[in-house]
Amino acid sequence: MCEYRNYQPEDADGCCRLVLDGIADATGLDQPRAAKLGGWIVSERGEDPAAMFCIVALSAGRVIGMGALDGASIKRVYVSRAFRRRGIGSEICRLLESEARRRGLSQLHLVSYVNAVGFWEALGYAKIRNRDWHLDGKTVQQTIMAKRLVGR
Ligand SMILES: CC(C)(COP(=O)(O)OP(=O)(O)OC[C@H]1O[C@@H](n2cnc3c(N)ncnc32)[C@H](O)[C@@H]1OP(=O)(O)O)[C@@H](O)C(=O)NCCC(=O)NCCS
Repeated sequence: MCEYRNYQPEDADGCCRLVLDGIADATGLDQPRAAKLGGWIVSERGEDPAAMFCIVALSAGRVIGMGALDGASIKRVYVSRAFRRRGIGSEICRLLESEARRRGLSQLHLVSYVNAVGFWEALGYAKIRNRDWHLDGKTVQQTIMAKRLVGR
């Protein structure tokens, strides 16, 4: 069982861990490089999810999933390894899309790691183009994707 709610400051450490683990999983980068690519450590780097519309998923009081809406972009969608493929990422995105519709947005876009493209396609996002991200001599492939919001 999982509870979904808006981000609270007390979620910062849990979210930080999710982002670092998620980027490392998706890219094969080590944690320091993952932190760089994320450009973000909640407590140290200051891109506070509180500044976005951010949803967290909790299990037994622990943050096991997150996702954020930043303008017309979906960002920071991560689910803890042990909880993947149970519909948690989809539910987080459904809540973000619902908020986007409430704000009158007609289209959402995002940058996906190649491994997650299948997840986004399952949610109705389409590939726009690929790009390479160069970081400390490593190349990370990313895919820019978008979805038109229709109906509810
Ligand atoms: C990508 C991620 C957020 C998906 O979260 P999740 O809770 O496991 O996803 P869901 O259970 O809601 O999956 C819904 C559907 O998406 C598809 N899907 C999910 N993960 C997938 C993957 N890795 N590859 C291909 N398709 C995938 C499947 O069709 C799945 O339905 P099914 O399980 O019935 O087959 C999670 O795997 C994750 O955190 N990965 C590491 C970090 C990452 O890549 N984040 C995305 C940043 S762009």
